[in-house]
Amino acid sequence: METAEIRRRFTDHFAAAGHTVVPSASLLLDDPNLLFVNAGMVPFKPYFLGQETPPFKRAASVQKCIRTPDIEEVGKTTRHGTFFEMCGNFSFGDYFKEGAIQLAWELVTKSQADGGFGLDESVLYPSVLNGDDEAVALWKRITGLPDDRIVRLPPSENYWSMGVPGPGGPCSEILIDRGPAFGADRDWDAGDRYLEFWNLVFMQDDISAARSKYDVDIAGPLAQTGIDTGMGLERVAYLLQGKANMYETDVVFPVIEKAMELTGKKYGANPEDDVRFRVVADHIRSSLMLINDGVTPGNEGRGYVLRRLARRVIRNMRLLGYEDPALRELLPVSRDRMGQTYTDLFDNYERILSVANAEEEAFRKTLTSGTQIFDLAAADLKKKGVATFGGDKAFQLHDTYGFPIDLTLEMASEAGLSVDEQGFRSLMAEQRDRAKADAKAKKGGHADLTVYRGIMDAHGPTEWLAYETLETESRQLALLQEGKDVPVLRNGEIGELVLDRTPFYAESGGQAADAGIIEFDGGRFEVLDVQRPVKGLVVHQVRVVDGEYAAGAAGAATLHARVDHDWRTGARQAHSGTHVIHAALREVLGPTALQSGSYNRPGYLRLDFGWTQALTPTQLKDVEEVCNNALRADLPVSWDYMTLPQARDWGAIALFGETYDDSKVRVVEIGGPWSRELCGGTHVSHSSQIGTLVVTGEASVGSGNRRIEAFTGLEGFKYLSRERDIVGELTDLLKVTQTSDIVGRVGELVERLKGAEKEIEKVRVAQLLAAGGDIAAAAQDVNGVKVVAKRIDGAGGGDVRTLVTDVRARFAPSEAVVVVVLGVADGKVSVVAATNEVARDKGLSANDLLRAVSPLIGGKGGGKADMAQGGGTETGEVDAAVAAVIASVQQTVQA
Ligand code: ALA
Repeated sequence: METAEIRRRFTDHFAAAGHTVVPSASLLLDDPNLLFVNAGMVPFKPYFLGQETPPFKRAASVQKCIRTPDIEEVGKTTRHGTFFEMCGNFSFGDYFKEGAIQLAWELVTKSQADGGFGLDESVLYPSVLNGDDEAVALWKRITGLPDDRIVRLPPSENYWSMGVPGPGGPCSEILIDRGPAFGADRDWDAGDRYLEFWNLVFMQDDISAARSKYDVDIAGPLAQTGIDTGMGLERVAYLLQGKANMYETDVVFPVIEKAMELTGKKYGANPEDDVRFRVVADHIRSSLMLINDGVTPGNEGRGYVLRRLARRVIRNMRLLGYEDPALRELLPVSRDRMGQTYTDLFDNYERILSVANAEEEAFRKTLTSGTQIFDLAAADLKKKGVATFGGDKAFQLHDTYGFPIDLTLEMASEAGLSVDEQGFRSLMAEQRDRAKADAKAKKGGHADLTVYRGIMDAHGPTEWLAYETLETESRQLALLQEGKDVPVLRNGEIGELVLDRTPFYAESGGQAADAGIIEFDGGRFEVLDVQRPVKGLVVHQVRVVDGEYAAGAAGAATLHARVDHDWRTGARQAHSGTHVIHAALREVLGPTALQSGSYNRPGYLRLDFGWTQALTPTQLKDVEEVCNNALRADLPVSWDYMTLPQARDWGAIALFGETYDDSKVRVVEIGGPWSRELCGGTHVSHSSQIGTLVVTGEASVGSGNRRIEAFTGLEGFKYLSRERDIVGELTDLLKVTQTSDIVGRVGELVERLKGAEKEIEKVRVAQLLAAGGDIAAAAQDVNGVKVVAKRIDGAGGGDVRTLVTDVRARFAPSEAVVVVVLGVADGKVSVVAATNEVARDKGLSANDLLRAVSPLIGGKGGGKADMAQGGGTETGEVDAAVAAVIASVQQTVQA
């Protein structure tokens, strides 16, 4: 049975049982605790937690997921994939254990002719959490199986949570016995024999902290129980297709076939190569899906995961013997298979390919430079007789050159070295901790969201008026410091204030938080930051700037919240400006120039977008011109709420955090279809109100991504005004009458300066050479050899060489001559040594003389017997070097 058919049977089965079938959400959902959606229930989390009211009691989905903790296992087992699709059915306060078991069992065992999967009951084993007698009884009653077919397992197997705070509960899995070839009888841990393919989670606990999926702290029961299930689409596919593993299904195997064609190697011939083939097939699909959802390669977070996946594909293709660029060959194969479900892969393919190509190019360079560094380090160790490659070196290779540790390990073993992996891992851990601490400090928040949830539970979401007004009367609901209630905040102190209603915009969608004032009886707060730590709850970070604030009971105090009017005007200009520049970029560069991130605050905006080359000056100018024409055209700006599919039909651009939870999204448009984006920000009502849009620069921010920056509104004007001042000063300084003459005048000056520099150079060389006579005359006689050994301050390498050649030529050819000059300039020593023929006949060599001085001046160099050149940095040792020249001649030519 084809994967597509399994998917269809799953959704049909649950639709028929009253479930709303919802499309897969993006892999990137706006959850600060999760890098990627890692289970089908993630988009429904707020419903399980009771933070939002679901629009349906029952839902089903086939959700794309990424899990990478087991990346090293990929290809080695039959069932580990970094990308997979999870078929799930969900109940929010509707059916519980009994309904879930009944629905799953029916689909699994119903014959294929009747639309089920037709799995043979005799090889199926339901499992339950040890002690869940209710589930045991239900399984026995519903399936008719005897007691010993119901397997009792510990929490490590049968308790499920997201691994982060959220909902969780005991679960039941359906295992299928694949026969003794895959492991011992009733050895439930041998994952390949008793393969679990469907997990039914009985959601009942609100988890406040999680150390793993099952090692959790439970804050209390959920407001209502629920059902979350996950059936691995790939697992069912390979079971029903009679394949041994998830890499050989109809969707994944074509990539392996392509890899065989490219490498000329056969799948199934060599176990090591087979793992490589599977890694390639798995990772190519994950990379494709991640780039499609807007991830670009980088060195942290999501970008790092993508980078690692893509680089592992390239590396494994190399290990299979294919050295040419590989991604462009493999991606289309995966696109053609996955595109049958995710049709946007075809629309986005050009962008996907350009991101992938840029990454591959960068990695190929990395491989070249990193390999050199590795080889040098390895050779050095061998010379010293050391057998272990240091953890610090491995870390440096990883950190600076993006060299994966497995690559270092492999190359080390080829070179007969071991690697201090422990040292490497501890450096990695240190780095991770630093990064985590930074991220936490940046958010200024507490990873523990319990206190905010508590406020939500008690008072409901904040009435949020940012779109309607700049001022409101509000009541205080909570006053916090470091996550704890405090009774009072004194003058100068900082705390967090939660109000029942607020006009303040909380930072989101790239737009900075509003600034303003909150007044209370007898004083006021300055608002420093505004965040939404949990969906729906607005929290103001405030400092008392006047008076002292006593919190009192929730709802007791009345306050007056007022957003700074000018600030908001600037914020609206900057955010609308961001949409304008995005549209302009796409107009100038084409639709593949897609936003990958943005930030805006009053007066300033920046937009990151997927693009691989630097913009030419003309493109940049064109972008700015398109922007300013759009401002002048006074395009109307409007927004509307609609469903996600409607928004898509409308051509709205939406890459991040797409959810269908509210069933409505907000679309902001400027000039009708010219710019349509999913956006929750605040905007001007006509494009001319943006005032100005002045592009100030464009630069690379990691492979495949560029950043464009601009000023808007008054800041744009101020920027231009500053530039005008500079032009004014130049006009005065250059004594031109017209500003347009500046360029001509500066050009002239530059030319003249070049001419003057050339003249000075000539004069300097002439002076230097004039000194040549005196220098030659001062030669010492050392055992019948004329020796010039001299330090000259202010002379660089070229000067020294000219001088040495000149001095040597001043002696009669019959005399033995040695000339060594050490020039000292800019903290560096340049040394040139020369001999003539008679001196060489006496056994003197310029190269030997250079060797005699080089160690003293801390440098190196080389040449031939007649002329040698080098340099160093030990300027304090130059006089010793001069003495060393004399000594060396004395040694070579005995009296
Ligand atoms: N959320 C459950 C899982 O991922 C179904 O296994």
